[in-house]
Order: sequence, then structure tokens, then C-alpha cells
Amino acid sequence: MTILVTGSSGFIGYHLIKELLKKNKKVIGIDSHNNYYSKKIKIKRFEILRKNKNYKFIKLSVVNEKKLDKIFKVFKPKIVFHLAGQPGVLYSLKNPKTYFINNILATKSICKISKKNNIDKFIFGSSSSVYGDQIKFPIKETNKENPKNPYAKTKLKSEKIVENSFKRTFTKFVIFRFFTVYGPFGRPDMFIHKFLNSINKNKKISLYNNGLNFRDFTYVEDVIKILYKTLKSFPQSRVINICRSKPIKTTYLVNLIKKNFKKKFKINKVGFVKGEMLKTHGCNKLLKKSFKNVKFTNISLGLKKTVSFYKKYGY
Ligand SMILES: NC(=O)c1ccc[n+]([C@@H]2O[C@H](COP(=O)([O-])OP(=O)(O)OC[C@H]3O[C@@H](n4cnc5c(N)ncnc54)[C@H](O)[C@@H]3O)[C@@H](O)[C@H]2O)c1
Repeated sequence: MTILVTGSSGFIGYHLIKELLKKNKKVIGIDSHNNYYSKKIKIKRFEILRKNKNYKFIKLSVVNEKKLDKIFKVFKPKIVFHLAGQPGVLYSLKNPKTYFINNILATKSICKISKKNNIDKFIFGSSSSVYGDQIKFPIKETNKENPKNPYAKTKLKSEKIVENSFKRTFTKFVIFRFFTVYGPFGRPDMFIHKFLNSINKNKKISLYNNGLNFRDFTYVEDVIKILYKTLKSFPQSRVINICRSKPIKTTYLVNLIKKNFKKKFKINKVGFVKGEMLKTHGCNKLLKKSFKNVKFTNISLGLKKTVSFYKKYGY
């Protein structure tokens, strides 16, 4: 059975496909290779994947319904992981249009074509940012969403598109809300890799909100194991948090990086930044109820692996 993954050269898409190929699945990857962050990293990920004969890559924006439909007609995928999208909270305040196109329009298009072609399963990668700032922690899937920026608003809108497209069909679907995913080959626009790149270039590191933010960091391999489980058993719930449920203060993370990188660096504490959430702390009870044997890597080990990969390969 062929599996289609959008955002195939992105951070999470790449790790998922690597795992699928390892398990001998046939995979079609679609990615526009946009330049939101270094294309070199996306191409590097693609070059690793393309070595496998079971992998077929198509460079395309999923907004293009006509071409997407052709791909479905030729390869007949039955499972779709929709991981393409425009991420980034602060950039969404500067350039909201790209979020409308690559989150809302892209999701509309892939949902429409998936529905038309009667796929079996649709798995969507959404974000904890749809919750915005909350008072009650840990955040449950039943908490009222409070999106604060165009990124979060377009992710929430995309969730609705997925739900409305499939709720009256035989296609099983699930919306996973990811909480700050990190790991080897991570996104250079996210805190950990921005930090590693700054240390490497002897640049000062900026800590927003004076380093007092809390993030529920979730190791990429743990996320992939959960995504993979949907091939065998599909959850009943339609919206599920993926998080470790153990938030880490930025200053604590800085100390862990210091310990692992073993190089001096300078820090610049910056005040409150508009659009940034102060704390993310998800509840993972529903996740653990929905799948057997869900385990999480602790931050010290996850970070150790991330830093040692970075030191070896430079990303
Ligand atoms: N990494 C995280 O911590 C995190 C947290 C919450 C949610 N998410 C969501 O998970 C998904 C994957 O995130 P990621 O970290 O791998 O991001 P990423 O930016 O590394 O990957 C997304 C990929 O999608 C591609 N893309 C963008 N628009 C496209 C389009 N119209 N057509 C085809 N390809 C397109 C990009 O080129 C990129 O390679 C995203 O939707 C993101 O919003 C990620």
C-alpha cells in the first residue's frame, strides 16, 4: 500500500518517511522546497530519502489540485500524512499571506483530492499554538482554543477543514496537535537549532521573555513512533495532543545545551515578545489512552542526541 506524505523534506516529514522506508513501505513525498528556511537542509533530507527505491518524490505545492489529483490517479495512495505547511509564530505576524496559502489553501486542496479519491486514512499535523495562552494546565484537547497569531489561526482553520471534509465519509481521520518537536536535523528557525547555529558562529543568543518561557519539548522520534502507530490501530478521538507533558523553562534548556556543546557563548535576555506563548504544557492522557505503549524520551537524552548530531553534521 502506498503512503503519501506532504511536507516530505521538512523536519517531521523527513523523519516519518525515514521510518516508513525502514519498514519497507512505499512512499510518495510531496514538497514545494520553499525558502522559508535554508533550502539546503530540505535538499539534504531529500537526498538521503531518495537513495531508497521505495521512495518517489514530487516537487509540487499541494495547492495545485490538478497535479495532486493526477498523482492520486497514478500512485493510488490510501493513507495521507499531511505535514506540509507554513510554520513559525513570529514570521506569521510579518507575512500572514503565506500562512493563508500554505496552511489554509494547501489543506483545502489535499483534503478535497483525498476525499475525491476515497482514501482510508488522513493524518494531519496541527499545533499546540491553537491553544494560545491558557490558565489551566496541563492543556487538554477539550480546552477552548485561543489562537493568538496568524500561524495559530490558520492551523485551527485547517483543523476545521480536515474535520468538515471527512466527518461524513468512510475516511478515518485524526488531527494531532504537536508540542515543540525537536531533534536531529531540526528546524533552524526554532529555538534549539537557532541556538546551536549561534554558538557555532560565536553569535549572541537571544532569550525571549528573559528566558522564562516554558515549552513542552517533544523528541521527534517519539512523535514518529506515534504517527507510525496509526498504520495499525486508528484512534477513536479526532483531536489528540502529542506532548511529553513535562514543560522545560528556557533557562534550564540553556544549561543543558551548555553541558552538551562544551563551548562558551553569550546570552542576550530580551523582554516580552508579542505573539509568543508564555507556556505550553499539554496533557497526554488521551494520547496514552488512544495508543498502547506510548513512551517519551527525557530532555537530557533527546538534547544529547540532537547536539551530537549537530556537532557531527552541522545541522
Ligand atoms: N516542528 C514542530 O515543533 C511543530 C509543532 C507544531 C506543529 N507543527 C506542524 O507540523 C508540520 C510539519 O512541521 P515541520 O517542523 O516539519 O516544518 P517544516 O517547515 O520543516 O516542514 C514543512 C515542509 O512543508 C513544505 N511546504 C510548505 N508549504 C507547502 C506547500 N504548499 N506544498 C508542498 N509543500 C509545502 C516546506 O517546504 C517544508 O519542507 C507543519 O504543518 C507544522 O505547522 C510542527
